[in-house]
Amino acid sequence: MYIFRGPVIVFILALFSLLSTTSQRSTCSEAFSKLKEDRHFEQCMKLPTLGAEFAWNIQEDHARQVNQIDVFFGTRLHAEIGWLAWGVNPTNELKMVGTRAIIGISMPNGTRAIDTYNVTAATKLGCGLQPLKIDFFKNMKIEYSDKNHYFMISASLYLPEPEYNISSLNHVWQVGYQSNGMEPLMHPTSLQNVDSAETINLKTGVSEGVGQHRHHLRKMLALRLKPRRTDEYRKFWNLYHHCLGYALLAAISVDIFLGIGILRPLDHAWKWSYFGVLGILGVIFLLFEIYSWCKFLNQKEKNNQEQRSQNK
Ligand code: HEM
Ligand SMILES: *[C@@H]1O[C@H](CO)[C@@H](O)[C@H](O)[C@H]1NC(C)=O
Ligand SMILES: *[C@@H]1O[C@H](CO)[C@@H](O)[C@H](O)[C@H]1NC(C)=O
Ligand SMILES: *[C@@H]1O[C@H](CO)[C@@H](O)[C@H](O)[C@H]1NC(C)=O
Repeated sequence: MYIFRGPVIVFILALFSLLSTTSQRSTCSEAFSKLKEDRHFEQCMKLPTLGAEFAWNIQEDHARQVNQIDVFFGTRLHAEIGWLAWGVNPTNELKMVGTRAIIGISMPNGTRAIDTYNVTAATKLGCGLQPLKIDFFKNMKIEYSDKNHYFMISASLYLPEPEYNISSLNHVWQVGYQSNGMEPLMHPTSLQNVDSAETINLKTGVSEGVGQHRHHLRKMLALRLKPRRTDEYRKFWNLYHHCLGYALLAAISVDIFLGIGILRPLDHAWKWSYFGVLGILGVIFLLFEIYSWCKFLNQKEKNNQEQRSQNK
């Protein structure tokens, strides 16, 4: 096995590097593109975390040194209730503290509302986050699409230069699942929730996130590589995941077999029991494999049928 291990590792690394190029930013999903077009937004991008998508328009005014940006932010929330935040951070760091945000809240009693908030160090420490008027946010709106379960917030911002530079604007977003009236409560702190900030050039649509900077290592680990269900890359990921799984299974089986060989046990019982175990596992594996392929093909057929009946 020790001769095989080198090539296996190279193979795995090659797959990883392939993936990190294919999991780059893509344009907005079809559903979100439709939503932003209905609202006359032009530029659009998928954000790297929380299934969020972001659309915007800019109107520069160098004479008055105030740039108007219209923003439209949305994601599919897992629950009907919760909150959705998007904001800008004028401090030089890509982080939560210092963010001026709009937060849309969907309450358990069905009321939806939006307001402006100043997220401070006290917020991070757990002091309640209450609405606070921030003058440059206008025309705030929260919407919900019953059709595809998007929660959306939008606003117009009048950003003074040079405090806010629309060529390198720090923007921050977040979702949470609990609120107390208009006070959003603590959000989860999964990798997705703490990587939800980046510096964006609104003129070109190019961005750089915390993910690329702070968490390089995490990428080798592939924890954040898994594309979202809706991504077109998802199918490549699935394929890769499958192949990697098979390769590892095969490598492990052979490895153990060779291990037994090296130890040279006195009788052959070890070897034969191992064959027996492998055989049983093999049969189980085959059955599951047949089952999941049938399920996959059935599902595909069903989807095709649905598509056909929708097209009629
Ligand atoms: C509702 C009150 C809130 C509380 C109590 C809170 C608390 C926290 C805490 C304790 C962390 C550190 C988590 C960790 O590193 O494990 C954190 C991180 C973060 N929060 Fe919040 N948060 C709140 C609201 C918000 C809002 C409204 C936003 C977005 C506008 C936001 C965006 C972020 C981001 C991007 C991070 C990761 C980067 C960083 O640590 O600065 N949070 N939050
Ligand atoms: C928001 O909080 C910061 C401190 O983090 C403070 O400097 C700023 O004046 C506050 N903004 C408003 C509108 O109160
Ligand atoms: C805004 O940022 C860009 C790129 O970082 C820089 O070239 C430009 O000078 C900045 N503009 C202002 C007004 O600071
Ligand atoms: C729902 O609750 C909020 C805050 O508790 C309140 O302001 C709002 O009027 C309530 N809406 C309905 C329809 O009862």
